[in-house]
Amino acid sequence: MPNDDKRIYARRRAQFASQLGHDAIAILGTAPERARNRDSDFPFRHDSYFYYLTGFSEPNACLVITGDGHSTLFCQPKDLEREIWDGSRFGPEMAPQALGVDGAFSAAELDAKLPAMLENRSAVWYPFATQQGLESRVCAWLDKVRARIRYGVLSPQTQRDACGLLDEMRLFKDEHEQAIMRRAAEISAGAHVRAMQCSARMLRAGQDVREYHLEAEVLHEFRRHGSQFPAYGSIVASGANACVLHYRADAAPVRAGELVLMDAGCELDGYASDITRTFPANGRFTGAQRALYELVLASQKAAIAVTREGARFTEPHDATVKVLAQGMLDLGLLDSNRVGTLEDVIEKRCYNQFYMHRTGHWLGMDVHDCGSYIEPGEVGQMDERKDPLSGETILNRPSRVLRSGMVLTIEPGIYVRAAPGVPERYHGIGIRIEDDAIVNASGCELISRGVPVEADEIEALMRD
Ligand code: GLY
Ligand code: MN
Ligand code: MN
Repeated sequence: MPNDDKRIYARRRAQFASQLGHDAIAILGTAPERARNRDSDFPFRHDSYFYYLTGFSEPNACLVITGDGHSTLFCQPKDLEREIWDGSRFGPEMAPQALGVDGAFSAAELDAKLPAMLENRSAVWYPFATQQGLESRVCAWLDKVRARIRYGVLSPQTQRDACGLLDEMRLFKDEHEQAIMRRAAEISAGAHVRAMQCSARMLRAGQDVREYHLEAEVLHEFRRHGSQFPAYGSIVASGANACVLHYRADAAPVRAGELVLMDAGCELDGYASDITRTFPANGRFTGAQRALYELVLASQKAAIAVTREGARFTEPHDATVKVLAQGMLDLGLLDSNRVGTLEDVIEKRCYNQFYMHRTGHWLGMDVHDCGSYIEPGEVGQMDERKDPLSGETILNRPSRVLRSGMVLTIEPGIYVRAAPGVPERYHGIGIRIEDDAIVNASGCELISRGVPVEADEIEALMRD
């Protein structure tokens, strides 16, 4: 690991440690390896909290940090036989120098060493309900500490959830993280461009285009630029499949005259990108498609305009809903004789028939990244309201105030399933436009605009 990177992880560990309490201790494991079938594993993906503090992506590892800032890594020992099959390991001998941690032991020593490390600590922090099996291991270690109480040893009196501290740190992306996220978004944008052009080119050549052809373009583009994985399962939905929110790329034909909704983003060096574009398969929007597309784009522009430092997280969503709801009335998707005015549509959430998800989420190491959506200093200010659709009681707490360095998606959509009273020309059209934004002092930086978003620009790109 380069020295600059070592300093970044060391700084994060120090910031984390400074919040634990001087005589406390924290334990964070990485993710387990998971079997896909029989003796074949899924590709290993580190735990995001663990990686955030170490930059270390080998499996079978655990980080222990004490409140005075001392860090100990437990990692796989050197093992020539295993390294011949699985690849080289740092091993505890190399890890301190390679990663900048203060000390390291073999992961096999975890159960032997942890009880002594927990002795005389006031509190033990670990991520609650996140790392399978960790709670029971902590209990077993605490059990061993308590067995030594008669020798004057003190056992931690408190167990605390490390997620809250780390979620808050991860919510604010430093320069190093922002640089990786810009690059991840740039690669993903290039992948969308490539899929759009492939769709038009294959249809022009009279070929049988399937959703998987476009997914293959995207995956190739991710990988050839060094992305390790897709950040999530790619959605490539042709025609009415776009109205299935969690549709995955499958084998359905991509036909001229229909739209393709593609939601795909790469993961690069542990950071996700998350982009959606909706484009006409052959490069030309029909009138009905363009009308809905322009509406979704206008709603996205309204959301972008209010995404800035000091705004609440809910403001982009509210701005989106206002534009979409008005458009639904104007285009006849909603009948004002039945649903009433714009205010009624918003108040009673009638737009939910065509727009049923939120306008964004935090983006970072995880595609739906961690971080509270409630403003920390205002958690106690709460009011109750009944959701007009489900009848559920909703506890409203003040939404998070956006600050520089937060990264979020802005992703309005419209999904028109065939239904009585819905004009036929819109049936089966599903559109989402999703971009990734870094909040800054003057507004936000859209890092995913390497792929066009204006309807005319998409048509021009697909003509060339
Ligand atoms: N791709 C997942 C999402 O847009 O939230
Ligand atoms: Mn998203
Ligand atoms: Mn997405």
